[in-house]
Amino acid sequence: RRTVRVGICGLGTVGSGTVNVMSRNAAEIAARCGRPVEIVQIGARRDNPACDTSQINVSREIFDVASNPEVDILVELIGGTTVARELILAAIANGKHIVTANKALIAEHGNELFAAAAEKGVSIAYEGAVAGGIPIIKSLREGLVGNRIQWLAGIINGTGNYILTEMREKGRTFEQALEQAQALGYAEADPTFDVEGIDAAHKLVIMASLAFRIPLAFDKVYTEGISGISIEDIRYADELGYRIKHLGIARGTEHGVELRVHPTLIPQRRLIASVNGVMNAVLVNGDAVGPTLYYGAGAGDEATASAVIADIVDVARTLEATPDQRVPLAGVAAGSQGETQV
Ligand code: HSE
Repeated sequence: RRTVRVGICGLGTVGSGTVNVMSRNAAEIAARCGRPVEIVQIGARRDNPACDTSQINVSREIFDVASNPEVDILVELIGGTTVARELILAAIANGKHIVTANKALIAEHGNELFAAAAEKGVSIAYEGAVAGGIPIIKSLREGLVGNRIQWLAGIINGTGNYILTEMREKGRTFEQALEQAQALGYAEADPTFDVEGIDAAHKLVIMASLAFRIPLAFDKVYTEGISGISIEDIRYADELGYRIKHLGIARGTEHGVELRVHPTLIPQRRLIASVNGVMNAVLVNGDAVGPTLYYGAGAGDEATASAVIADIVDVARTLEATPDQRVPLAGVAAGSQGETQV
């Protein structure tokens, strides 16, 4: 079978991580995919010394990738919601499949993008958008497909969890810990997204749309961040036997799905209380399986690249399939009625 041709847009933390892991693990990826997977073009405004692109066609104009007839799958890693949305719509119009790690874009414009993709018969995959390297989208979409999901709750912002952990364990101030998270490449370009709960709300609505088969409803989430948490709050919680953790929670109720993001007090004996640093964890409760827990790095170059590559392989495996034979990558299918109100 012929080589699958990938175009990557954006060469920041996740873009460079994806280039590096795809190059290092090319043989494993090809063997598992059943065909070689090659990056044929990169669209990026500037080079990134963290990865070697000397053997790849690099364009300074990202829209070149959307119109390149050689590209089968466009991987959007530029972030933001304006240019990224236009880029993806242009690529879909040209019949390209999409892989993205852009949670803000999926949470805020996913309904529109999925409809465009369904009309054109292409896939949109977004594993890297939620909880970094943890395969939570695949678990919700496939692993738990036989369940009625009752609730899910998770630590889904690595930066916020890193800050809370650094404050508790090293006595760092909020500002010091945030600076460190930025230096490590965990934080969003605008870190208020991390510390005010917006990033977690983006991820929560994506998970909830799959778990409860509801449209993406970012504007309906109760959102509170960690910027008001002091070292004293953390110390008092410790004394009382709790850890302060910032959670995203979605729960099915008889009136609809409840969506909320805020700091919580978790008893220290709970597994999720020991999730520290940049690590994320998501608990999902299904009626058949009971509680399940997914744990791993929630941010970072290669951890997120791991999820992006999983999507590339998923799409690549079904490239010649008809749309109805493909893994349902587009979340809530366009035109389908969610069974529950938000
Ligand atoms: N800023 C995000 C986080 C990156 O800290 O979790 C991964 O989505």
